[in-house]
Amino acid sequence: MIPVILSGGSGTRLWPLSREGFPKQFLSLMGGDTMLQATWNRVKSVASASPIVVAGEEHRFMVAEQLREAGCPNPVILLEPVGRNTAPAIAVAALEAISNGGDPLLLVLPSDHVIADLEAFQAALLEACTAAETGQLVTFGIVPTAPETGYGYIQSADGEGVKRVERFVEKPDAATAEAYVASGCYFWNSGMFLFKASAYLDALATHQPAMLDASRAALAKARRETDFVRLDRTAFEASPSDSIDYAVMEKTDSAAVLPIDVGWNDVGSWSALWEVAEQDSNGNAHHGDVLAEQCRNTLAWSDQRLVALLGLEDVVVVDTADAVLVAHKDKVQDIKGIVGKLKAAG
Ligand code: GDD
Ligand code: MG
Repeated sequence: MIPVILSGGSGTRLWPLSREGFPKQFLSLMGGDTMLQATWNRVKSVASASPIVVAGEEHRFMVAEQLREAGCPNPVILLEPVGRNTAPAIAVAALEAISNGGDPLLLVLPSDHVIADLEAFQAALLEACTAAETGQLVTFGIVPTAPETGYGYIQSADGEGVKRVERFVEKPDAATAEAYVASGCYFWNSGMFLFKASAYLDALATHQPAMLDASRAALAKARRETDFVRLDRTAFEASPSDSIDYAVMEKTDSAAVLPIDVGWNDVGSWSALWEVAEQDSNGNAHHGDVLAEQCRNTLAWSDQRLVALLGLEDVVVVDTADAVLVAHKDKVQDIKGIVGKLKAAG
């Protein structure tokens, strides 16, 4: 299986640490490897070839440098001149993968997730191979813990192991998400997929022919350099912009799901990071030079100076060179709004 690593996110939810020029996947949130490096390290033992990484042109040096540092041999780095969301990004990767003949299994991976139980994850990947070999588009399901509206929801057929998907609903509204979670019949889509390159391209040909044509043209006219493959701007710009979830998974009859219990977390917010970070006996998680007295369940992050917290509960403090965030842990989903205002103000 060839890992296809998606590294095009814009990273607003972990502001002020992640920025447009420096999104989440390039950060070392848990100490040590960056999230991109951890993504490769997590799958290198089950990969049959170097990964195909799809990233925005502006991040090319960071991608190449971080993969080199992680000892990743000869990655194929496809550069998007503009973002067209994940469906076209995966399309160009699939077309690249079959360009030398063959029809490999592709393991599509977001570059900004955490997985705690590596062994269970790798076992699940191997278990999913058989179904993927038969042409199914396999996703990995997570038992939901809250009615999150930022995820895809999957209703599966009964049975063990890899199951047919009855219904895939991307990002339902709050009431629908609540009903799904209460029913106990739905999984979250983890955003990872395993399928044959041809299975994905066939699904695109059926459901998104314009996207497939644009992706094919963008790769055919790409500029191949030593370290990068630069997709053709005009051709790629012409592609409709959509995620694999809306463009394919909601529509296809060939979807399957393998439920997994691997300590998955997509670190979509500061509170999610707090959940996966190491906490002291009072639930405080700290990074850098931080002193907390009489605090409970706080997250404090300091890049350079001493940050002291006194008598706080459920508060997030993030100190960087040019911006400080102080927020209630329940409100960190709204950081997008702040970033939007900052952008508008120039
Ligand atoms: N190369 C490239 N180009 N990568 C992209 C692009 C793009 O235009 N857009 C997003 N990505 C990358 C992101 O960096 C991330 O690693 C991954 O693709 C998924 O994109 P997100 O933007 O994070 O998607 P999401 O979180 O809203 O939703 C997806 O993930 C959820 C689980 O975390 C969906 O698959 C949901 O169904 C799923 O529940
Ligand atoms: Mg995400």
